[in-house]
Amino acid sequence: MLICHCNLITQREIEQTIVSLLAEDPWRLIVPATVYHALQKRGRCCGCFPNVVETIIRVTEEFHSHSGSTESDSVTFLDRVRGLRGQYGSDRHEGRKKDHRAA
Ligand code: FES
Repeated sequence: MLICHCNLITQREIEQTIVSLLAEDPWRLIVPATVYHALQKRGRCCGCFPNVVETIIRVTEEFHSHSGSTESDSVTFLDRVRGLRGQYGSDRHEGRKKDHRAA
């Protein structure tokens, strides 16, 4: 089944790409851009992204259920994601004052 009409990407290609990304690092954060980058494609209209997100969730859950991961592994993964705040600076608020308001 064709998922991305702009790039002619099938459901099967997306599933295989997600599995290969998880095989490299089972706890990496996969987003549609990760999958498209691995396929050497780019989102154009991005109308397919909601379906790609659902595919990522489904394939990732299946991958971990077959690999014997436990719920405590998920908690460890979330701690890793939280650790990215310091690495990428989301805790610094881009140098804005604490009372900064956009509007
Ligand atoms: S349908 Fe996938 S980018 Fe347009």
